[in-house]
Amino acid sequence: MPKKIILDCDPGHDDAIALLLAHGNPEIELVAVTTVVGNQTLDKVTRNALAVAEIAGITGVPFAAGMHRPLVREVETAPSIHGDSGMDGPVLPEPTMPLDPRHAVDLIIDTIMAHEVGEITLVPTGGLTNIAMAARREPRIVERVKEVVLMGGGYSVGNWSAAAEFNIVIDPEAAHIVFNEKWPLTMVGLDVTHQALATPDVVAAVAAVGTKPGQFVLELLEFFGRTYKVAQGFDAPPVHDPCAVAFVIDPSVLQVRRAPLDVELTGTLTLGMTVADFRLPAPADCTTQVAVGLDQEKFWALVIDALERIGNP
Ligand code: BDR
Ligand code: CA
Repeated sequence: MPKKIILDCDPGHDDAIALLLAHGNPEIELVAVTTVVGNQTLDKVTRNALAVAEIAGITGVPFAAGMHRPLVREVETAPSIHGDSGMDGPVLPEPTMPLDPRHAVDLIIDTIMAHEVGEITLVPTGGLTNIAMAARREPRIVERVKEVVLMGGGYSVGNWSAAAEFNIVIDPEAAHIVFNEKWPLTMVGLDVTHQALATPDVVAAVAAVGTKPGQFVLELLEFFGRTYKVAQGFDAPPVHDPCAVAFVIDPSVLQVRRAPLDVELTGTLTLGMTVADFRLPAPADCTTQVAVGLDQEKFWALVIDALERIGNP
């Protein structure tokens, strides 16, 4: 039985690849795609999500737009990494698929409530505003969700500040809510996503796929590689978001460690830092775990395999 996921995202170069991985892998059934302000404004990331659907031939999956600003803070986007459109590089097709008329928060709640307990996995790859709102609006979703596997945070490093990662620091209050709910939660943070590098070998493997979606990913990686070099000093760009999807497909892709996790809300230098308490073995009631290692070969094999399966829709 494929695993049913809701991908909550802010495309975003790596979000787009996460969406393609989820669509192209037979172990996953995409039951909804929801968008949230993050890498760019809500209208831009929503248009980008629909453009990816167009390129990949995704049909029959509801796409809905969600929160246009964080719970408390002002909007902060990432044009230095993702460009003015939020997904600069490839020429994007005009989407033809209509958006679901519901607000993403309602779609998330409706979908979870309409499925059996333990059927739906939430995979957030953007700020956590939609997920926090859904948990507050309908608290029963917390015990119905199978697990939350999110890209965000890091226990050893930040990227938007010395201590904090982008998805967490753009809406730390939302992240605080999500990290403190009692659902099983896996944090797939920079500690591992900084190993998911699109090296020249990876780029060559993507080029060899030879399809339209393959060419799209190639052009995404070209742009992403340039901005990551200039803005963050990386020789090859880290492709964060598909790591969370890959873990849902095959948990052996990541090594994980159970540990209490929390989000810093009051630090002046550390706002949005995700703190993992590794001092003792995790207590029996601990529901959180953190990724500590990535099998790079398995990860990239999954991405390439998904692209090959998508073919030329
Ligand atoms: C995260 O921030 C965004 O820019 C990426 O899409 C990814 O989700 C990495 O810090
Ligand atoms: Ca993202």
